[in-house]
Amino acid sequence: MTDGAPRLLYLNRRDIAAVGGDQSDLYVAALADGLVQHADGKTMQPLKPYLRASGNHIADRIIAMPAHVGDPGMSGLKWIGSKHDNPDRAGVERASAIIVLNDPSTNYPVALLEGSLISAWRTAAVSALAARHLARDGFTDVALIGCGVIGSTQLTALLQQFNHIATVHLFDIRPEAAEKLATTVDAEHAVDAIVEDSAENAVRAGDLVVPCTLTDKPYIHSDWLKPGSLLCNVSIMDIHKDVVLTADKVVVDDWEQSNREKKIINQLVLEGVFSRDQLHAELGEILAGRRAGRETDDEIIVLNPMGMAVEDIACAAEIYRRALEHQVGTWLDLY
Ligand SMILES: NC(=O)c1ccc[n+]([C@@H]2O[C@H](COP(=O)([O-])OP(=O)(O)OC[C@H]3O[C@@H](n4cnc5c(N)ncnc54)[C@H](O)[C@@H]3O)[C@@H](O)[C@H]2O)c1
Repeated sequence: MTDGAPRLLYLNRRDIAAVGGDQSDLYVAALADGLVQHADGKTMQPLKPYLRASGNHIADRIIAMPAHVGDPGMSGLKWIGSKHDNPDRAGVERASAIIVLNDPSTNYPVALLEGSLISAWRTAAVSALAARHLARDGFTDVALIGCGVIGSTQLTALLQQFNHIATVHLFDIRPEAAEKLATTVDAEHAVDAIVEDSAENAVRAGDLVVPCTLTDKPYIHSDWLKPGSLLCNVSIMDIHKDVVLTADKVVVDDWEQSNREKKIINQLVLEGVFSRDQLHAELGEILAGRRAGRETDDEIIVLNPMGMAVEDIACAAEIYRRALEHQVGTWLDLY
């Protein structure tokens, strides 16, 4: 606010990239802090409502994701829309989003950011942080199922964060998507990129397994996972229930967010076969050092990351801080 005239800073993708928002380091650092704050009870995060006004696919929805992070910190909302067939029907990415940041001293909006770039990178940073604590030391093989926007960002972040990755195993029901990502990985990273002919072959090869599909039909069986693997269950519905029930450790980002909307954890709770008592930890508790991460080389660990508004607001607040510092973005008058 200047001289009582409210205004807000608009940051598009180019602006966000200009302050480091197209690389994993910013997000990993912001979330290492934000997830610990969440574990310490220093965040507020009302349960997110799903608006399903059109379309019947699991990925047809708009979600409102409000949160407050830090003291005095920042409040905000991610408003993220999705239509599963946007790429084929409209030639645009599946997900679109804006993030509004509100200054907690006035609760006025102070920034408006393009949100789907931030959303993809923060989701990837959660997997990178999980891999730091829950994957086997020096893991070499990553299996990626679903090579769209989220999948390719996951892979890029993992390759940026872990130089011991040697081979990536890619599978997509559209082989051309896996081929395209393999070509990019070959050109930009010193790793082998193998396009697998089935999800099973990819999963069986992975020390770190990351499904990023649009499915609502489980296909990953527990006996596909090799001893010592970590499965970051980004697209949530890909795994059969035995994957959760037989894992040595199950970790979530947030129990309340995970146990709803008939997603995999919620289904198991409703069936009476899983409960909070069987949960090993929320990820922030592990980052804070209050719960153990991986303890042996052969345990199988499942992370169920529902995706939290706290993550979006923590990352967007850091991008806003950097944009102010470097005078990036466009000011919009509110009145
Ligand atoms: N957990 C989180 O925090 C979080 C955050 C953002 C997105 N997501 C999820 O990530 C998923 C991917 O989103 P996106 O933006 O990359 O979508 P996208 O449409 O860009 O890409 C999805 C890819 O998966 C492939 N695919 C679909 N079904 C498949 C199957 N059964 N087996 C193999 N490949 C399959 C498609 O061909 C496509 O290439 C969505 O389910 C979304 O909800 C999760």
